[in-house]
Amino acid sequence: MILLDPLKIDTVRLSDEGDALVIIDQTLLPNEVKYLSLTRTEDIWEAIRALRVRGAPAIGVAAAFGAYLAAFYAPDAELEARFLAACDYLATSRPTAVNLFWALDRMRRAYDGLRGRAPGDVRAALRAEAQAIMDEDIEISRSIGKYGLELLRPGMGILTHCNAGTLATAKYGTALAPVYAALDHGLSGLRVYCDETRPLLQGARLSAFEMVSAGVDTTLLCDNMASSLMKSGKVDIIFVGCDRVARNGDAANKIGTSGVAILAAHYGIPFYVCAPSSTIDVAIASGEDIPIEFRDPSEVTELWYKKRMAPEGVGVYNPAFDVTDASLITGIITERGIVRAPYEEGFRALGLV
Ligand code: MRU
Repeated sequence: MILLDPLKIDTVRLSDEGDALVIIDQTLLPNEVKYLSLTRTEDIWEAIRALRVRGAPAIGVAAAFGAYLAAFYAPDAELEARFLAACDYLATSRPTAVNLFWALDRMRRAYDGLRGRAPGDVRAALRAEAQAIMDEDIEISRSIGKYGLELLRPGMGILTHCNAGTLATAKYGTALAPVYAALDHGLSGLRVYCDETRPLLQGARLSAFEMVSAGVDTTLLCDNMASSLMKSGKVDIIFVGCDRVARNGDAANKIGTSGVAILAAHYGIPFYVCAPSSTIDVAIASGEDIPIEFRDPSEVTELWYKKRMAPEGVGVYNPAFDVTDASLITGIITERGIVRAPYEEGFRALGLV
């Protein structure tokens, strides 16, 4: 079995020469550790689309480096056209995580401020901007970890869904950042429960891999076992990530999250969403306006099985995300503090709106 110090994994970074995006191919984990070095916009688009790099913040960082690389490889005369086309194209890779659009908008704004400068300066400044997005993401995750840690006590059972760990960000993660902070602070006896997260198994393949590798007492469960686990009294708190939070606090995250929140309310278990400010979409009033990605039916019928496990011709419902109603969320842990309902006011108080 492969064990890797999760905090030494390069989820997403620029090569030392500044000429390639380096990612760990998450579709192969936990059985194979393979880093990819990508230079072409099309390959970076494919890596995001196919979830080789995934998780809202990591997607944003990858896209930012992708936009920079388009400028890096463009002849001087085509720099603007290729950079702007890459921004537009990368934005079509996935629809739900707002960090993707946030990061590309930030790169476009940086470019606007560079008009008229020499091509070499423009490339250097775009590289610096993408690197800043990555560096800030690490600090943001650490800060979310610090606020989440305040909610933890020795011996607690934490349930998480999907993967919002170090593999979903530049480092540390959001929902798993409090666990890394707890390890740092010597908080003992934490138990982490990972929902398997059908159909792409981010909980089993990625969160469980991260937590076991970090030496945490980790238990895996199928998604439909969460109610039983909560009823048994083993879950004290729930941390999940998110892909987009609306102004009213409705939060889109991996499919199945809203079911976990409904169960948590039933069993009286605190349910926290961990959200970097880049995930809060103040332009959207409620979750109804969040675009939800639907993915290929074969993820449900065939992937992971030796043989197809459903009859040919069956319809398949395969949304990648769902929206958890703000009323089910105990609090939203941001890098500036924990926001509680009413969320719009809370976001404003922290200067996030
Ligand atoms: O489809 P994925 O694997 O990109 O979905 C990831 C999630 O839903 C995460 O919980 C979310 O992006 C937050 S990552 C800090």
